[in-house]
Amino acid sequence: MNLPRTQHSPAPLGCPPAPTAPAAAPRGPVRPGLRFVPGLLDPGSPALAQAGGPPGRRLLVVDARVHELHGHRLHHYLDARGVDHETLVLPGHEQVKTMDAVFQVADRTASFGISRRGAPVLAVGGGVLAEVVGLACTLYRRSTPFVRVPTTLHGLVAHRPGVETLVDPAFLVTLGRRHVASGLAEVLKVALIADAELFALLERRGRDLLDTRCQAAGIGAAVLARVVHATAFDCGAADGRHYGHIFSPTLETRALPELLHGEAVCVDMALSTVVARRRGLVDAEQAERILRLMRRLELPVRHPLLESITLGGALADTVRRRDGRRWLPLPFGIGAGVLVDDLDGRELVGAAGWLRAWSAVADAAPTLDG
Ligand SMILES: NC(=O)c1ccc[n+]([C@@H]2O[C@H](COP(=O)([O-])OP(=O)(O)OC[C@H]3O[C@@H](n4cnc5c(N)ncnc54)[C@H](O)[C@@H]3O)[C@@H](O)[C@H]2O)c1
Repeated sequence: MNLPRTQHSPAPLGCPPAPTAPAAAPRGPVRPGLRFVPGLLDPGSPALAQAGGPPGRRLLVVDARVHELHGHRLHHYLDARGVDHETLVLPGHEQVKTMDAVFQVADRTASFGISRRGAPVLAVGGGVLAEVVGLACTLYRRSTPFVRVPTTLHGLVAHRPGVETLVDPAFLVTLGRRHVASGLAEVLKVALIADAELFALLERRGRDLLDTRCQAAGIGAAVLARVVHATAFDCGAADGRHYGHIFSPTLETRALPELLHGEAVCVDMALSTVVARRRGLVDAEQAERILRLMRRLELPVRHPLLESITLGGALADTVRRRDGRRWLPLPFGIGAGVLVDDLDGRELVGAAGWLRAWSAVADAAPTLDG
């Protein structure tokens, strides 16, 4: 998502327009390397057994919770398709996104004896597992092939170019409600900065998505496809991807394990919405719609730590992590964004105060969100 660098241009982001949401689950490639494969673990489906290379041996790296819930079907599928496999089960939450986990995968890959061109690693789990396995495979013997099977919404959008990804939305059924909401923050991010229609869809059906773990008839798979499409085309520098990351990395680190990734991103997006409102980039009605939708999706718009972290310091950290690049995305209306290079800590503190007051009013009149 490339964003224009002017504050007053409504220019599109440079990504192809999203297709009109289809009513049924899409089949086949939605972005290069990514396919929706409903019934992925049905022994009659060859997709997973054949993914990433000729059928043969596979090292299966799987999130511990996913293994508990879906492991029997996974093993049954691989056995039924005659895939000789070993399994490494890894815990999958933010606090285990460590180099230890990366080395564990690399060690197991070495002892399993994967050849670089031969058997790929199968990574089945959420965004954390995808990042751990991705890094291990990238480092091991100058790149070992791997295949991703995302089992969360974050996992779905954690795009790695060139990595074969097979999506079966049915995995989402077992996700906890809060994790679904956290994943929907990622959907909202795409909607806010790049897809006004998706935003309207979330307003109408976001609660259904939450209630049904994105299985709601005629909408779940369509929304997933739309999000994948919007994040599909890297569109150069992918500036829009940094939306929701002005200070959320600092907030998330400080608030672990209490705050989920998508929740920290949402607090960041809420604050940047207020900054945009105060700059006249979104109007009062748009800002209300955005903040209310966040609440309807059961996402936080603020966090007590916002009072204590130095927003200016968090912003400086973000700029440092981005090699000094100061251009940061803000919403421009709904469904578009702009890059600004003059954001400072004082402006963020002012916006945080506004947001605190707004939240107090909204908390006192919760029906406003209904
Ligand atoms: N690289 C990218 O583009 C990108 C994009 C978005 C998110 N991320 C990363 O993804 C991470 C967040 O991902 P996440 O929310 O998937 O976290 P996660 O991988 O920690 O999964 C969340 C929780 O859900 C459990 N789980 C996973 N699938 C399940 C299922 N189908 N049923 C029941 N439980 C299940 C996991 O065990 C874990 O406890 C963050 O670290 C973030 O940095 C990366």
